Order: sequence, then C-alpha cells, then structure tokens
Amino acid sequence: MERTLLIFKPDAVQRGLVGRILSVFEEKGLKIVGLKMERLSKEKLEKHYEHHKDKPFFAELIGFMSSIPCVLAVVEGIEAVSVVRKLVGATNGRKAEPGTVRGTFSMSNQNNLVHASESVEIAKKEISHFFEASEIWEYNIDRIKSIYSPSEAKG
Ligand code: CMP
Repeated sequence: MERTLLIFKPDAVQRGLVGRILSVFEEKGLKIVGLKMERLSKEKLEKHYEHHKDKPFFAELIGFMSSIPCVLAVVEGIEAVSVVRKLVGATNGRKAEPGTVRGTFSMSNQNNLVHASESVEIAKKEISHFFEASEIWEYNIDRIKSIYSPSEAKG
C-alpha cells in the first residue's frame, strides 16, 4: 500500500468543490487516512515548493496558497501515488485531459484545485511536512474486500 498527499487549494475551497473532488478519490477506492483544514504559513509553503523557488510564478503561488485555509488529505491504496496523479491530470487545467479533476473543473495553470505528490519518495516527505504522525489513522475498512482481489487486499 502507498500513501500520497493531497492539498485542496484555495480555489477548491472558494468554489465549494472540496467535497466533490474528495469524492473522486473515495469513490475510486482510496482510503482516507488523514484529513484536516489549515491556513498554511508562507514558510511551510516555501519549503514545500522549494524546487520552484526560481520560477517566475513562485511569489504568486505562495501568496495564493496562503490566502485562505486549505484542506489537506492523505489517502492510501495500491499504487496510490500514480493513481491519484492520473485522476488529478496535467498541471495546466486548460490542457488537462477531460475526465480528470483539473480537466473537468480548472481553466488555470496556478488555480488547478488540488496538489498531489509526484512520487512515492516525495509523498513520504510531503506527508511528514504537513501531518504529524498522530494525525494519520490506522484502521480497517470492510469495503477493501470489494475494492481489491483477495491477494491484493492482503498486501
Ligand atoms: P502543483 O501541482 O501544486 O505544483 C506546483 C504548482 O505551481 C502547480 O500545481 C501550480 O499551482 C503552480 N504552477 C505550475 N506551473 C505554473 C505556471 N506556469 N504558472 C503559474 N502557476 C504554475
């Protein structure tokens, strides 16, 4: 099982799309193991987006992401990182495939509704950057037997 980080950005909160987008991942069969709302500090965001610090959009991105509280989630499943990235779609909402979250709801490069970790390694770093260990929940879901085959569900 893999875990990945999702940040429902200020545009998703402003537009009232958090529940609808979260349901895409839930209905796919991903298990929510962490969920909270937080006004992210500029310092925390600058560290998260460190690899973009020289990009022309960096300052605007930090301003946007810290403008109002975001909703943060950690979801779990087999190959969760790549499954979630595919569901989210390409960065630029105007270019994202129809049917993806961004392809359905976003018209922007920046206001693209949701951040999803890029790789398994990055997901581990991002989850520990935004969540305390005590905020991640271990529990069994009965529907796992319907989501996966018996051998997959055993892990
Ligand atoms: P995200 O997946 O969170 O990763 C970096 C973010 O930077 C990206 O989504 C967008 O919100 C933003 N971003 C990436 N490229 C651009 C761009 N060309 N112009 C403006 N914002 C961008």
